[in-house]
Amino acid sequence: MHSLLGDLVAWHLSQQTATTLGKRLYDALQQAIGQGDIATGTRLPASRDLACELHVSRNTVLWAYEQLQAEGYVETRTGSGTFVCRQLPESHPLRDSLPEAGPDAPFPMASLSRRGSQLLAQGGAGARQWGAFMPGVPDVSHFPRDIWRKITRRLSHRLPLAALSYTAPGGYGPLQQALVDHLRIVRSVQCSADQILIGAGIHQILDLLAKMLCDPGDRAWIEEPGYWGIRNVLTINGVDVEPVAVDDEGMTLPEPGEGFCPPRLICVTPSHQYPLGTVMSMQRRKGLVARARAWGSVIIEDDYDSEFRFYEQPIPALQGLCDDAPVIYLGTFSKTLYPGLRISYAVLPRALAGRIKMAHSELYRGGNGLAQLTLAEFIREGHYAAHVRRMRQLYRKRREALVAVIERTLGPEYVERQSHAGLHLILALPQSIDDVALSAELEQCGILTRPLSGYYMGTARRHGLLLGYACVDAGEMAQTFMPVAERLAARLSPGQVSAAGGGS
Ligand SMILES: Cc1ncc(COP(=O)(O)O)c(C=O)c1O
Repeated sequence: MHSLLGDLVAWHLSQQTATTLGKRLYDALQQAIGQGDIATGTRLPASRDLACELHVSRNTVLWAYEQLQAEGYVETRTGSGTFVCRQLPESHPLRDSLPEAGPDAPFPMASLSRRGSQLLAQGGAGARQWGAFMPGVPDVSHFPRDIWRKITRRLSHRLPLAALSYTAPGGYGPLQQALVDHLRIVRSVQCSADQILIGAGIHQILDLLAKMLCDPGDRAWIEEPGYWGIRNVLTINGVDVEPVAVDDEGMTLPEPGEGFCPPRLICVTPSHQYPLGTVMSMQRRKGLVARARAWGSVIIEDDYDSEFRFYEQPIPALQGLCDDAPVIYLGTFSKTLYPGLRISYAVLPRALAGRIKMAHSELYRGGNGLAQLTLAEFIREGHYAAHVRRMRQLYRKRREALVAVIERTLGPEYVERQSHAGLHLILALPQSIDDVALSAELEQCGILTRPLSGYYMGTARRHGLLLGYACVDAGEMAQTFMPVAERLAARLSPGQVSAAGGGS
């Protein structure tokens, strides 16, 4: 019989050099306890069991336990067994030989690379990822778990063994095919199954694309303001990101002047600019595709939440605008189903597909077969479309409730008008309001918002708060918004307060 603790002791035993077996076992146990591998309070195996596992005599174990007890490392409790003492002796050989730990103690192994430190310094991922007004997170409580469970159970009975191994490069065929059909109908994306790469989130796929398409020092245009995740993933891969302003039609395209050097990547969110919500105009789309083609640049089309347009049909994706557009289309199930599913996809140009899919296998080893097959069935049987339809109605109601409460309490000018879609809206603030401080103060009282200025790489041209309404019931919107209105009112000057609606 093998136990985890027995294996651990056996490993420590193999490190010892004392001449007798009893002393070696004693040293091994003392080392394991001293290093914290066996935690204080742990019950040690019964002497008979440990002897059996280590192939030593029971007397050897008893002798080692007795020595440890005499020195205050373990204690026996009648009828319960031998336990590591909660309070270890002040000094023991191993601890004495270790350097002092503490905030100032040098510990070079734990230092980060420059890019690692830079990543964390500008990171956007918080400890809490769910709750009122967290932007970009769907209401996962409405996910149809029963249907999902039924499909999973059905598939489990006849699961091909291959689904338990790594996936073939690109992911599972049935999911790739379901995506081809779905994307053609709802996003006018033109592709075949072999162009689809299934990944574990847009972040992961972008990380792969940066590695495979860019050398350190290559340049990428990103939207200003733009999603911090894109910026961070590119930066940690040594790509120089250049912010390009966004206007009412989407990313503005700089006129190539003398010495112009085209970027390798152009990253855009044309269906619903993140975070402002603008939809890229058709003229801008055509211009972007034409220029990227002429420059040899690759457009990364991040289509993270186009499913949630409330008042009009979504504009077709850039990818399907013309044959062989220089576009890599990215989509995710994080917003439509739930973020923890970690299933996203890329539609790759034919000329790149095979090599990028192979690289994905090399770097990340695809898997999660049952979830991929379940999702394929979920889409094919129509549950996905039905769920998205239901959620679209729900989010539309929630958005309307939030707009109404902002207009009533603060005034219509506080609602950013460009966006009628997605899972968040922008509470537009005067430049005099420090949105970072306001957001931090709200977090103290449990309200999660994001400051708009944090999405700018350069000087923030606008201040505001991103408010995710997806997880707040329409009926509770007014009450949930109250702390935001109160904290904001305390910061507004009298003139600004009267300009606002003034009600409560
Ligand atoms: C614009 C944008 N792109 C991509 C993502 C991340 O998607 P995923 O969960 O698939 O990594 C997000 C998440 O909030 C997002 O807002």
